[in-house]
Amino acid sequence: MFTSREKEVRLFDAGAGTGGLIQAFVQARCSVEPLPNRIHVVAYEVDTSLLGPLHRTLEHCRKHCFSLGVHFTADVHNADFIEAAVPLVCGDLFNGSQTPFNATILNPPYRKINSDSRTRLLLRSAGIETSNLYTGFLALAAKLLIEGGEMVAITPRSFTNGPYFRPFRELFLRLMSLRRLHVFESRSVAFESEGVLQENIILHAVKSPTKPSSVVVSTSSGAPNAPVSARECEYDEVVLSNDPERFIHLIADDVQQEARQILARFRTSLAELGLEVSTGRVVDFRARQFLVSQPAYGTVPLIYPCHFNGGYVKWPKTPSRKPNAILDTEATQELLVPSAVYVLAKRFTAKEERRRVVACIYDPSRIRAARVGFENHLNYFHAHGAGLPLDLARGLAAFLNSTVLDVYFRQFNGNTQVNATDLRNLRYPSRSQLESLGHHLGDSSPNQQELDHLVHKELF
Ligand SMILES: C[S@@+](CC[C@H](N)C(=O)[O-])C[C@H]1O[C@@H](n2cnc3c(N)ncnc32)[C@H](O)[C@@H]1O
Repeated sequence: MFTSREKEVRLFDAGAGTGGLIQAFVQARCSVEPLPNRIHVVAYEVDTSLLGPLHRTLEHCRKHCFSLGVHFTADVHNADFIEAAVPLVCGDLFNGSQTPFNATILNPPYRKINSDSRTRLLLRSAGIETSNLYTGFLALAAKLLIEGGEMVAITPRSFTNGPYFRPFRELFLRLMSLRRLHVFESRSVAFESEGVLQENIILHAVKSPTKPSSVVVSTSSGAPNAPVSARECEYDEVVLSNDPERFIHLIADDVQQEARQILARFRTSLAELGLEVSTGRVVDFRARQFLVSQPAYGTVPLIYPCHFNGGYVKWPKTPSRKPNAILDTEATQELLVPSAVYVLAKRFTAKEERRRVVACIYDPSRIRAARVGFENHLNYFHAHGAGLPLDLARGLAAFLNSTVLDVYFRQFNGNTQVNATDLRNLRYPSRSQLESLGHHLGDSSPNQQELDHLVHKELF
C-alpha cells in the first residue's frame, strides 16, 4: 500500500514482534524502481524474548538490501513504545528539525487502558485521549511522522465508530489523510490464533491536513490469497462532514451504496421524532438481591434479550436461565420505568445472528404490570421517559429490523455491539411515515422478506 518512492526511507514499527512487517516492507520497497539509496529502520519491541528473531529478520533485510546496493541500517529499542514516544512528540528532541520518520508500519497491541494508569496519563500528556492501546499507538505514530509520511496499519475495526474512540477519530482524521481502508469480512480469520472475534482492517493514510477527494475501500474474506474487491468512495461519504461523531463509513459494494442512497432520504433525528434512546438501567450483577427467577407477588417484569420473540416481548420465559422478575420496592424504583409501549434493541448480537440491529416491541397490553425493568444488555426507545404510541413503535421497530438498515449499519459498525450513540446518530423516516408503516403492520409478525417488502412499499 505504500506509494512513496523517497530515496531515503526512515521507517518505524512500534511493536515489531519478530519483524515480519518490516521485512515485508523492505522486500516490497526494494522490488520497485527507483530503488531507495537508504533504508533506516527503528523497531520498538517490549518483549525481550522476541529480540533474537527480530535481529535475525533485520539481518536478512540488510543482506537483501546489500545485494541490491541499498544501504540498510536498523535500531532496535527493547522498550515500551508509549514511554519512548511520548517524550519525543512532547519535547523538542529532534533539535528543532522535523521528526525523522517518513514511514510507519504497524500491527499494534490491542488491550484496554485503565483510566488511571500511567499509560493513559502519558498519552494524555501528549494530547491523546483513548482507552485502548492500539489507538494510542496509532495516534503516537501519526504524531511521529513527518508531513507527507505514510502509515500502513492492521488494527481492529472498533475505532471506526465506538463512542469511546471519538477523541481518537477527531485527532487521527485531523492529522492523517485516509487513502485506503481494507476490510476483512471474516471476523475469525485474520486474528484466528489470538482467538479474537472481530472485524479487522488495514488502513493506509498519509500525514496531511488536506483531506483526499476519495478513499479506496476494499474487502476480502481474510483467507490467504482470497480475491479483493475495491471501490473508490468520496471522502465525504466515508466521513460525513456534518457528523460530530466522525464515524468512518466503509462502503464496500454496490448493495451498500444503494442502502446508503435509500437511507440518505431520511433526515429526521430521533429528537425530532420526540424520542430518546437509553441503555437498560438494570445491571443484573449489581442488582442481584432484587432479582427473582419467576414472577411473584411484589415483583414486576425484568426484560432481557432472551424475551425477544417474533417482534414482541414474550414474557415470562419458562424455563429460563435469566431471572424473569425484579422486586418492585423503594430501592428498585430508580431501575424501573412505567409500563408503556417501548421499542427495545439488543446491544449485543450473536455472531450467527443475521442482523446487527434487532428490535422488538414491549407492549403492556400483552404483559400486565405497573412498571418494568429493562436489563442493561438492551437499549430502549422512549418519549422522554414515557411510552410511544403503538403505531409509531411498530413502524420504528420495523424500520430498525429492515435489511436495508442493517446493510447501512454495517458500514460503520464492524462489531456485534450496538451502542445507544449509534442509534442516536441514525436518521429516521418522519413520524407520519413511521406511524403509517406501523398502522399497516398492525399486530402481525411478518417474516424478514414480508417486512422488507412492506418497509420498501411504505417508506421508499
Ligand atoms: C500484534 S503484535 C505485532 C507483531 C508484529 N509487528 C507482527 O505484525 O507480526 C504486537 C507486538 O507489540 C509488542 N508490544 C506490546 N506492547 C508494547 C509496548 N508497549 N511497546 C512496544 N511493543 C509492545 C508485543 O510484544 C507484540 O510483539
